[in-house]
Amino acid sequence: MKTRPLGHGAPAVSAIGFGGMPLSIQGRPANEQTSIRVIHSVLGAGVTLIDTADVYCLDDDDIGHNEHLIAQALRSWSGSRDRVVVATKGGLTRPGGTWGRDARPERLKQACERSLKALDVDVIDLYQLHAPDPSVPFVDSVAALVELQQEGKIRWIGLSNVSVAEIKTAAAMVPVVTVQNRLNPFFREALETGVVEHCAQAGIGFLAYSPVGGGRLNQKLPSHPALGPIAERHGVSAHAVVLAWVLARAHNVIPIPGARTVEHALDSLTAVNVELSPSELAAVDQAEFSRA
Ligand SMILES: NC(=O)c1ccc[n+]([C@@H]2O[C@H](COP(=O)([O-])OP(=O)(O)OC[C@H]3O[C@@H](n4cnc5c(N)ncnc54)[C@H](OP(=O)(O)O)[C@@H]3O)[C@@H](O)[C@H]2O)c1
Repeated sequence: MKTRPLGHGAPAVSAIGFGGMPLSIQGRPANEQTSIRVIHSVLGAGVTLIDTADVYCLDDDDIGHNEHLIAQALRSWSGSRDRVVVATKGGLTRPGGTWGRDARPERLKQACERSLKALDVDVIDLYQLHAPDPSVPFVDSVAALVELQQEGKIRWIGLSNVSVAEIKTAAAMVPVVTVQNRLNPFFREALETGVVEHCAQAGIGFLAYSPVGGGRLNQKLPSHPALGPIAERHGVSAHAVVLAWVLARAHNVIPIPGARTVEHALDSLTAVNVELSPSELAAVDQAEFSRA
């Protein structure tokens, strides 16, 4: 498996990570063993970055579902746990199954304690602010992560759903190792607003979330006219072409596709060996990816 630097002071990780969300939200596999098999399949294929969050669950009564699942999968995996970076997040809530924000410092500290227990670790590898909370000064949320790091509860600090200005504000307080924003051909705002470029220049790893478009839009890829010929030439799926396009955005981009089946999870990893030509990249750049 090819690797990419995760960010300042952190080790290189697999160039494609795994996102745990679909294994724990609405529509998740009914059987936990299925989910464990999916996680074991990517670990066995050389994935060394798993992304999760306390809120990857059904609702507030189910907080930590995905973190428990990942802890369980790592415990029962025959390979070396030491090579695997587990990234989790705090700062969101799931009241009644909806998505809310709560990044008050005291709430982030409680969430981190709960994540330590759910992940069954003494230190969280990478702890990410899930999203800025408009009702809390951004610097206060970041300061809570700094305190958690000083207390030895988290190794590296990451941000998610942030602007260049927010990255700069946080980076003035503490080394920011990763930024996790959405990036796929349907949603290119991370490119258009300069976040990817800023991270590349600042030595910050960019974790591309929903890299194949997310649960609904990814289903449009196999029939997309721009992707079919490219996929055929390389002998890979349309999803792999899109992931290769995401990887080609910059040297610091690490896509974290999610999947509920072993087949899909492993198919995505084939993208690390797909080198798209300049004209293939341009074809995806210029194609329309309708969100309708
Ligand atoms: N920071 C944030 O705010 C945020 C927000 C969203 C997501 N994320 C993170 O990013 C990860 C990925 O995002 P996502 O789950 O929203 O979207 P995604 O990875 O773009 O799409 C996931 C869906 O695409 C399908 N898929 C993936 N690879 C495939 C392949 N090679 N062939 C066929 N189908 C494939 C899967 O279907 P099946 O389920 O049928 O296998 C899966 O449900 C999440 O798991 C989470 O870790 C973070």
